[in-house]
Amino acid sequence: MENIIEIKNITKSYYVGKVPTKALDNVSLNIKKGEILVILGASGGGKTTLLNLVSGLDKIDKNKNSKILYENKDISKYSDSKMTKFRKRNLGFIFQTYNLLEHLNVYENVLVGSSLGRKKVDVHSIIETVGLKQHEKKYMHQLSGGEQQRVSIARALAKKPKVMFCDEPTGALDEKTGKVVLQSLVEANNKYDTTLIIVTHNPGIALIGDKIIKMNSGKIVDEIINEKRTDPKDIPWG
Ligand SMILES: Nc1ncnc2c1ncn2[C@@H]1O[C@H](COP(=O)(O)OP(=O)(O)OP(=O)(O)O)[C@@H](O)[C@H]1O
Ligand SMILES: [Mg+2]
Repeated sequence: MENIIEIKNITKSYYVGKVPTKALDNVSLNIKKGEILVILGASGGGKTTLLNLVSGLDKIDKNKNSKILYENKDISKYSDSKMTKFRKRNLGFIFQTYNLLEHLNVYENVLVGSSLGRKKVDVHSIIETVGLKQHEKKYMHQLSGGEQQRVSIARALAKKPKVMFCDEPTGALDEKTGKVVLQSLVEANNKYDTTLIIVTHNPGIALIGDKIIKMNSGKIVDEIINEKRTDPKDIPWG
């Protein structure tokens, strides 16, 4: 499989007053097209920082040896407006909180997502992929947490993103609901070949991935290849 993303020697320093601290320290990583990458690690280890840099929400420290290549294009050199356009068209985001539009129903929320991309999509079939076919007309307050998270997955999928960034997607959910949400992500990966990058505190979730990296103090401290993905319903929780 070819790499969709190649990260080379990226560092991110945050300044508190005049003192820089490295939230990310010279990280390199390749991500294959269609891969499920799971990022584990202690709080403060740099997981969210890595997601924010790779998804272009934040900028890496300037260094001639640093690169973030998407299919050989270096997005770390993009201007803000070019990056915004790239992100809007190509990348999907799932967070611990759902950020859905309360005054729109399920179908309409997903339709808004599809309008961000430029590809023709069948909104009904995407809603079916996340298992919400019978809930299409419901408003957000009529849905459980897990159902709302699946709406946010459907909304992100509706632009057919190349890569979906998921920061603690099951962080607010119990085991049963969390597993259903992971099932929807895996289903999307199978059906649309969407590359998934999932950050989690839950080591059980690592088993659904093809590759697991562990982060600590801004570095990748372990990289594990998982030859056989485990079905989300069979993973240990917590
Ligand atoms: N905007 C910021 N300004 C200053 N320091 C920051 C900022 N954002 C993050 N940091 C620091 O960078 C380090 C990495 O933070 P990051 O949010 O990437 O950790 P994380 O692995 O996602 O943690 P968690 O599991 O708690 O979400 C932490 O020490 C944090 O305090
Ligand atoms: Mg985080």
